[in-house]
Amino acid sequence: MVSPRHSVHGQWSSRFIFIVALIGSAVGLGNVWKFPYLAGENGGGAFVLVYLLCTAFIGLPLMAAEILIGRRARRSPVLAMRTLALEEGRSSLWAGVGWLATLAAVLILAAYSVVGGWAMAYVFRAASGAFVGVDAYQASQLFRQLTGDPERLLAWHTLFLAVTVMVVGRGVRHGLEEAVRWFMPILIGLLLLLVWYAWRYGAFDQAVDFLFRPNFAALSGGAVLAALGHAFFTLSLGMGAVMAYAAYAGDRVPVLQVSLMVVLADTAVALLAGLATFPLVFSNGLAPASGPGLVFETLPLAFGAMADGEVYATLFFAMLMFAAWTSSISLLEPAVAYLVERWRIERPLATSYLGVAVWTLGLVPVFSFNIWAHVRPLDGWPLFQGRTLFDLMNFVSTNLMLPLVGLAVAVFAGWRLSPQTSRLEMGRTLGYRLWLGVIRFITPVAVLIVLLNSAGILQ
Ligand code: PHE
Repeated sequence: MVSPRHSVHGQWSSRFIFIVALIGSAVGLGNVWKFPYLAGENGGGAFVLVYLLCTAFIGLPLMAAEILIGRRARRSPVLAMRTLALEEGRSSLWAGVGWLATLAAVLILAAYSVVGGWAMAYVFRAASGAFVGVDAYQASQLFRQLTGDPERLLAWHTLFLAVTVMVVGRGVRHGLEEAVRWFMPILIGLLLLLVWYAWRYGAFDQAVDFLFRPNFAALSGGAVLAALGHAFFTLSLGMGAVMAYAAYAGDRVPVLQVSLMVVLADTAVALLAGLATFPLVFSNGLAPASGPGLVFETLPLAFGAMADGEVYATLFFAMLMFAAWTSSISLLEPAVAYLVERWRIERPLATSYLGVAVWTLGLVPVFSFNIWAHVRPLDGWPLFQGRTLFDLMNFVSTNLMLPLVGLAVAVFAGWRLSPQTSRLEMGRTLGYRLWLGVIRFITPVAVLIVLLNSAGILQ
C-alpha cells in the first residue's frame, strides 16, 4: 500500500483488468506449445507434479516479489530496481538486474515473435485445408517448408511483431488493456471448445491418465530441472514483464492474492492445453514425446485425420496466436517504459524504435532455420554444443539470464528491501510472513540449483 509515486504511463482501469493482463502475459506459447511437449518428454504426471511444486515454492513467491517491486516503485524494471535500491540505502548497481531482465525480454521477444509467426501461418494453412488427410511425412514436410523459407518466415515474423508494436504503442489503457480485453475471452473460449472437441473425439481417458498419473520411473534429474525452468518461463518471471505491469496497478491490490490467482490460472490453462492436445495425439496412435514438433507436426497430422479437423485446427492455431500476442506485449513493455521514462521519448516513437530493433534481432532466429542452419558458433564449448543460433538465443535468455534475474530479485526482495517496506506493501498477515521465509531461504537456493545446472556445473 501507500506507494508514494505515480506511473507516467497511467494505471489499469481496474484490479480485475490488471489480473487479466498478468494472466495474459503468463499464458502463452509456454502453456500451449512448451508444456505439453515437456510433459510428453518427461514422463507425464510425475513431471506435472514436480512442476506444480516448483510453481508453489519458486513461481508464486517470485511473482509476489516482482509485483511488490514494480508496484512500490511505479517505474520500468530498470528504474524500479534503481529507485528502490537507493531508497533503501543499497547500491545503485541493483539497476543492473532491471537491465538484465529488460534485455532478456527483448531477446526472448525476437525469438518468440518468430514462433508466434508460425502460429499465424498455421491458422491460414489449417483454414485452407492443408492438413486434411496428410501423413506423417507430409506433416513434417509442411513444417519444413515454412521454416526452410526465410522469406516466408520473415513475413510472418514481421506481421506478428507489427501487431505487438501497434498494441504497445497505444499505451496502457488504449493498447495493453484493450488488447487483453479482446484477446483473453477469445483465447479462453477457444481453449474450452478445443478441450470439448478432444473429449468428444479423442482418447480423453488415456490423456487424463498420462497427465495425472505420476510415473516416477520416468522422472530423471533433467526432468526436475526442466520443470523448474519451465515454472519461470510460463509465469513470465525474470524478464521484468510482471514488474512492468505491476507499476500500473492500484495501491490496494493485494499482492499475494493476485499472485496466487495468476499462478492458478496459468497452471489451469497449461493442464487444459494438455487435455486439448494429448487426446488427439493418442487417438491417432501418435507419440506424446515428440518434442517441439508436437504442436506443429504431430497435431496437424492428428487434426488432419479427424472429423471437422480443419475447423478445429484453425481454431487451435488461432488460440495459440492470441496467447502469444498477450505475452509478447508484456515482453516489449519493460523496454518501452524505460525509454519513455528515462529519455522522454513519446511512446509511439519509443515503441517503433524498439520494434525495429527486435525485428532486426529476429533475423537471427529466422535465418537459423534455413540459410544459417549449419552455423553452430559456440560448438567448442560443451555447454553450447550443437546449438543453432535460435537455440543459443533461447538457451542464454531462458536458461541463464532468467534464473539469474530470478535469483537477484529473490535476494533483493528478501534481504535488501527492508521488511518495513515489504510489510507496508503486502500487509502484516500470515501469508506475508510465510512469503518472507520462502523468498529468503527456499527460493534463492532452488533457483541457484537450476542456474548451476543450466550452466552445466551440476552435470
Ligand atoms: N509466459 C509466457 C509463456 O508462457 C512467456 C513470457 C515470458 C511472456 C516472459 C512474458 C514474459 O509463453
